[in-house]
Amino acid sequence: MRTFIKKIVSPFLQKTSKIYLSKPRKYKYKDISVWVEPSVFPPFITISTKLLLEFTETLPLEEKTVLELGCGCGIISILAAKNKAKATASDINTIALDALEKNAKDNRVSIEILHSDLFENLKNRSFDYIIINPPYYPKNPDSIAERAWFCGKDFEYFENLFRQLPDFMTKTNEVYMILSEDCKRDTIFAIAEKNNLSVKCIVEKTVFKEVNYIYKINL
Ligand SMILES: C[S@@+](CC[C@H](N)C(=O)[O-])C[C@H]1O[C@@H](n2cnc3c(N)ncnc32)[C@H](O)[C@@H]1O
Repeated sequence: MRTFIKKIVSPFLQKTSKIYLSKPRKYKYKDISVWVEPSVFPPFITISTKLLLEFTETLPLEEKTVLELGCGCGIISILAAKNKAKATASDINTIALDALEKNAKDNRVSIEILHSDLFENLKNRSFDYIIINPPYYPKNPDSIAERAWFCGKDFEYFENLFRQLPDFMTKTNEVYMILSEDCKRDTIFAIAEKNNLSVKCIVEKTVFKEVNYIYKINL
């Protein structure tokens, strides 16, 4: 496997990052700064959050409703709110959600923060933009922290996501998801297709020799 997964599985790097991530760490993007608690997805280890921040900033956000599905530290929601969107941040990790309450206040923005397993608590809602940085390594997660990385050994996260997603898609709203070359994209695309969804790459960016892709998901 490539650099990125090596960072997670190599015993040395695993130990080092475990120590580094055993206390809250600050993550910054431009004028936004958030505290990332242990067990919350650490945006400093990968490039995916930063690429999604850069991409989200290019969207016309003013007065738009934005859902960050699986928000982790929620910095993408904070950026959307700072750009005058009505942002909703959801996650299954309550530590992430509690920290986001404080991070939103510190950054002087108002965000709707919701505990939800995928769309479970978002029924009958609609969003102009849905932004997803999913867990994509195939293994059953052993803890809430691992749910940020692992999508289940049979890609259960994607099975559930793509089964639920069509109910939250219209002719006009837009759904974006980031993936890396370091995941089984063909398997993920096959699950999307099974649910009558098509996936189109709109951004391709290589950072530290790892190619990352932002996809637009369409009905
Ligand atoms: C890769 S992290 C991305 C975090 C954040 N959006 C970012 O870009 O930094 C994936 C997030 O999805 C959350 N997650 C995993 N499974 C979920 C589920 N079934 N429902 C809601 N959130 C989930 C994890 O807790 C984690 O915060």
